[in-house]
Amino acid sequence: MKAKVYITRKIPDEIVSKIEAVCEVRMWQEEEKPVPREVLEKEIADVDGLFCLLTESIDKELLDKAKDLKVISNMAVGYNNIDIAAAKEKGVRVTNTPGVLTETTADLTFALLMSTARRLVESTEYLKSGRWETWSPMQLAGQDIYGATLGIIGMGRIGEALARRAKGFNMNILYSNRSRKPVVEEELGVQYAEMDRLLQESDFVCIMTPYTAETKNLIGERELSLMKSTSILINTARGGIVNENALYHALRSGSIWAAGLDVFEQEPVPLDHPLLTLPNVVTLPHIGSASIKTRMRMAELAAENLILAIRNQTPKNIVV
Ligand code: GLV
Ligand code: GLV
Repeated sequence: MKAKVYITRKIPDEIVSKIEAVCEVRMWQEEEKPVPREVLEKEIADVDGLFCLLTESIDKELLDKAKDLKVISNMAVGYNNIDIAAAKEKGVRVTNTPGVLTETTADLTFALLMSTARRLVESTEYLKSGRWETWSPMQLAGQDIYGATLGIIGMGRIGEALARRAKGFNMNILYSNRSRKPVVEEELGVQYAEMDRLLQESDFVCIMTPYTAETKNLIGERELSLMKSTSILINTARGGIVNENALYHALRSGSIWAAGLDVFEQEPVPLDHPLLTLPNVVTLPHIGSASIKTRMRMAELAAENLILAIRNQTPKNIVV
């Protein structure tokens, strides 16, 4: 008998076919709408494998409904949407998709840094709304990127990829991380700094850390108050790492200069969210890894991990 798999979103046919070659597949048929919780609760009951996205909350209550589940394959590098302890306790394997999205996410992070510093979105709106009447000395003037100090919080694969880009802009690079990384320091010329010093000295602070109990609200009122009034916060990791209320107040009062956000505590971010009312915030709908090639690679890798686990072979990327 073929193993049963549920896929929580309509994914490209060629990926579905790969899984279908090995498993009996059921799939939520919408591309732009997440599977409703009650559907997922029913579907998970009898499957051996779950292919899911970061939009699904795979908590203990849901896992308790699964009778035969062997593997949860998350099509993302982050897995804060999954109760890892509960999965482990039930002997359910969890896999993710690191590596394949590193460069694409670093590209987007640098793009967001540049567009926030040089006010690209605001400038486009300025032009299109007919406000461009003349060239003027301080019109839409932003912050320099070349030669500035970049603080990277979380020196994992994506943090390193970001540092490599920053070197091309002759930036001074500080990083904080749970452990020091002497090899990376040597190779990329980055300097380890305690968080407070990083916040005080950086012109750009980029959050590149996973979202865990330790990093929840890592950047709050105190941390923001340490930053320079000319500095910019960039978050392409997870919304909950920053206290959004504190960020709003820091941006409004001018205690920091701007922010570029690809992620929010609640996604999609509600349109009446205070952060969306500020001109000095560039906002994106969680598109860090969204290049065509990379999203295909992530889906392929998630499918491979799923199939390997179902065959009782070792998946390429094991969380637990
Ligand atoms: C996207 O945010 C991911 O974790 O892959
Ligand atoms: C993710 O790939 C990371 O470790 O930064």
